[in-house]
Amino acid sequence: MMDRAAAFTLLCEFTQSESLRRHGMAVETCLIAYARHFGEEEAPWALTGLLHDFDWEIHPQLPDHPRKGQAILAERGVDEVVRRAILSHAGFEDVPRLTRLEHALFACDELTGFLTAVSYVKPSRSIHEVDVLGVRKKMKDKAFARAVNRDDIVNGAAELGVALDEHIGFCLRAMQADAARLGIQGSAGAGKESACTTDSYEGILRKDLRSSTDSLGGFGRFAGRATGSSCVRCPGRN
Ligand SMILES: [Fe+2]
Ligand SMILES: [Fe+2]
Repeated sequence: MMDRAAAFTLLCEFTQSESLRRHGMAVETCLIAYARHFGEEEAPWALTGLLHDFDWEIHPQLPDHPRKGQAILAERGVDEVVRRAILSHAGFEDVPRLTRLEHALFACDELTGFLTAVSYVKPSRSIHEVDVLGVRKKMKDKAFARAVNRDDIVNGAAELGVALDEHIGFCLRAMQADAARLGIQGSAGAGKESACTTDSYEGILRKDLRSSTDSLGGFGRFAGRATGSSCVRCPGRN
């Protein structure tokens, strides 16, 4: 299995946008939490989350993303189970989601972007201010983060076999526990932290909540993505 440092280097080689790197990291965080919850091996779940959109900048449309990225991942030695999971998140008819990992990736992908977008409209721009009820309300607000497909969030939870509120709460807690690394700690944080961490899988969620950046330059771009006309996951669909 490719180690975390190599995977992050691969992500950064093809993804210059810090907000898109952080999107991969947020999905990674949620998938690690779900791997633990389900008693699954963490490394392939973490890798799948981190790398699922690694080729989005070079292949900004379906089906090139994520199909053309597959050859790169194979050449770099990424396991088949991870590659198939990544391929399955696009909804191609010939690659249905079959495994729990594949369902979990789909379930977490849009939701992480939505939770990040909700945190940005809080006074402190902090994920710690976000709660499940508020998320459900924002999901009904069609003008908010229009690019995030609500059906994908609802269907993703159902596919995974987790009640929607439980799923939202689960991902919220995972992201809150990792807020500094994900740059969503808001004004409670101080100082600066780069997304370019090469932590081991094991260290990611256990790390102390170090102070996080307030500059929000990169996150503002993500907010624009989340509320604008293109979708992080599969921009070609919008
Ligand atoms: Fe995608
Ligand atoms: Fe994504």
